[in-house]
Amino acid sequence: MGAVEQPRFHDAAMRRNLFIFGLIAFGIVGDCGAADSISFEREVWPIFRRHCVACHAEGKAKGGLRMDTAAGLQKGGETGALFVAGKPEESLLISQVSGEKPEMPEKEPPLSAEKVKVLREWIAQGARMDRVPKMVVPEVKVPEVSATAPAITGVALSPDGKRGVAACRSEVVLFDVDDGKVLKRVPTGMDLVNDVAFSPDGSLMAVSGGYPQQWGGVLFLDTASGAERGLRKVAADTLFRGEFSPDGSEVAFGGPGGVVHVIPVDSAKPVRSMEIHSDWVLDVAYTPDGKRLVSGSRDKTTKVSSVEEMALLRSVDESSEMIHAVATDGETGVSGGSAKVLSGYDYKLALAGVEVTGSGNGATPVNKKAQYLRAFEAPADAVMCLATSGDRKLLAVGTRASEIRLYRMADRGRVSALPKADAPVLSVAMDATGARLLSGGKSGSVQVWDVKEGKLIRSLNPVPVK
Ligand code: HEC
Repeated sequence: MGAVEQPRFHDAAMRRNLFIFGLIAFGIVGDCGAADSISFEREVWPIFRRHCVACHAEGKAKGGLRMDTAAGLQKGGETGALFVAGKPEESLLISQVSGEKPEMPEKEPPLSAEKVKVLREWIAQGARMDRVPKMVVPEVKVPEVSATAPAITGVALSPDGKRGVAACRSEVVLFDVDDGKVLKRVPTGMDLVNDVAFSPDGSLMAVSGGYPQQWGGVLFLDTASGAERGLRKVAADTLFRGEFSPDGSEVAFGGPGGVVHVIPVDSAKPVRSMEIHSDWVLDVAYTPDGKRLVSGSRDKTTKVSSVEEMALLRSVDESSEMIHAVATDGETGVSGGSAKVLSGYDYKLALAGVEVTGSGNGATPVNKKAQYLRAFEAPADAVMCLATSGDRKLLAVGTRASEIRLYRMADRGRVSALPKADAPVLSVAMDATGARLLSGGKSGSVQVWDVKEGKLIRSLNPVPVK
């Protein structure tokens, strides 16, 4: 027996050692402790922080459970202890996040099998908490008067062109487009607001951002009153740009970790997320039928995905630089970024099967990108932001340069150019017909433009500055 058993055992140990060696070689296993021991700080805590802490922390300890402190994790919630050290199968934590329909995280996609495995092994190994990183989220205060004008990272224009809103650091400022008067300054509780969008009927605003390295989410506000209509925290870092779905029932915003989040306005409905990029997703746009999303990322790619299936349909482009902005009508997606290129992608061709030239054994795939690429005129500088009119006929392009250019989506022909914009132009927005355009710049002013006349109507500073 022994003679048979021993080599096998030896073999297994060797393989295991090789495996561990591989992990060390690839930098997966750190230099401290045994290779197979789970680190709370490096492996478990990021899962709690990303998926749980938004609802299980001070002031909002759902089910009586706090997961942002070691004491809270040890104590557990109303039902009892969160875990039984050494016994994952008897632990509430595991039963809540696994099984056929995991109960937690509530209203969100279940944890991946790998993450559940990490939690299970952590408990099996004794559920040690080497250190719970401090999770102090300082309260965000909006100064009455700012020392310097905050950059305008996002602007939105109501579909009727009457109301404008600008994202200014930690607040959004609503103003009357006709007379430039500030109507309301709304603090958001976010340290950094990256974008703001109007619902298709103008009744709601979605504010995207969060607290860097702490949380990211979307705040819904009532346009008329400025009252909060719900806050959804969905990530461990700020969210970026996106917009409302054409039917107004949900929003899609890009986030850290290559994730696109689809967040229903109805807070009883679950958030859906898909990790389709490998780095920050900086902008997301819906097709007019609401069925597809175009997304652009710091990973330099532009992708098209299905809203219903929350799945990637195709990577339509890989740029040489990061993509800052995307836009779409029913036929094409458009993206632009640091590479100073503005490209359109014909969906019909881009999403069709791979075409080949030749036949039989000589058949080779042809370069499809050349077939579905619809190049625009070269932009003046790096593309920072894009916007379509509500009817999706016009495209506005904001760059690092001071000229905002307008194009027809249908044939990519230039319609006009608005000179002397506050550059770099960080945000643009148009009304339903593309008659009016708002732009926001780095120096903190918002400009209101008459598109047809190519004229600046007014410039305003939404936030008073010393
Ligand atoms: C969107 C909010 C939300 C998120 C995110 C969330 N929870 Fe919860 N959790 C709740 C609510 C609400 C309850 C109370 C539900 C109830 O009592 O039926 C709860 C209850 C629990 C309980 C039971 C507490 C008790 O003792 O009764 C556990 C355990 C739990 N959550 C674990 C987790 C874990 C682990 C995660 C992350 C993977 C997570 N939750 C993420 C909202 C959330």
